[in-house]
Amino acid sequence: MASKVAVVTGANKGIGFAIVRGLCKRFDGVVYLTSRNIERGKKAVADLEKEGLKPNYHQLDITDNKSLEVFRDYIKNKYGGIDVLVNNAAIAFKHNATEPAAVQAKETLFVNYFSLVSTCDILFPILKNGARVINLSSSCGQLGLIPSKELKERLKDEKLTVPELSDLMQQYVDAAQQGTQAAAWGNSSYVVSKVGVSALTNIQQRMLESRELSTMNQ
Ligand SMILES: NC(=O)c1ccc[n+]([C@@H]2O[C@H](COP(=O)([O-])OP(=O)(O)OC[C@H]3O[C@@H](n4cnc5c(N)ncnc54)[C@H](OP(=O)(O)O)[C@@H]3O)[C@@H](O)[C@H]2O)c1
Repeated sequence: MASKVAVVTGANKGIGFAIVRGLCKRFDGVVYLTSRNIERGKKAVADLEKEGLKPNYHQLDITDNKSLEVFRDYIKNKYGGIDVLVNNAAIAFKHNATEPAAVQAKETLFVNYFSLVSTCDILFPILKNGARVINLSSSCGQLGLIPSKELKERLKDEKLTVPELSDLMQQYVDAAQQGTQAAAWGNSSYVVSKVGVSALTNIQQRMLESRELSTMNQ
């Protein structure tokens, strides 16, 4: 029988690294530690090998569609698809970061929300039947942290689609360019990005249950 495959994005350090360690100990199949930077990724693999664990490695930058496509084709050809996908990669500006809010909004939403959407668009077609997808949101991804009542209603609307959610996330980025984001969205790009991740995950769950993600193989 073909090996089962688990994939963790942004796994060269932090929570992603710990998830790979846990999967190596418990998952009955091959575990892919992926990272945007090959050197950092290989160092992480070597650290786990010192613990007697045997993760596989592949480069994967979630902001680069070419990197995602190369990885998708590699996994599809070698194993037929993915059984467990852990969407862990993300960024966060430090609280004392000096970059303007407009820059923080654009970069944070690009990596944490829009690149997660691209990752799912490119990798979902090779999810195997019965696959599991884990999107790392945060306690910062709670709707209660968004000031606007109207936005909260939109974001929890069960009819909200991914393109509509992406429009809302882009509206936040655009408002931050104008400096008008605070009243409706609050002041944290990280919060908005993780609210987006939580809303996206709810939509994906509904789509999976209704089999709308019919691009999935098998
Ligand atoms: N730490 C917390 O308290 C906490 C709480 C709730 C949720 N979370 C969420 O849990 C996840 C992991 O957090 P963490 O604290 O472990 O963060 P972290 O230590 O900063 O690690 C983030 C990982 O993501 C990678 N990454 C960033 N951009 C990437 C890209 N474009 N492509 C591929 N990988 C990329 C980083 O790679 P580089 O090393 O190359 O930068 C790093 O390996 C995130 O989604 C975070 O939002 C964290």
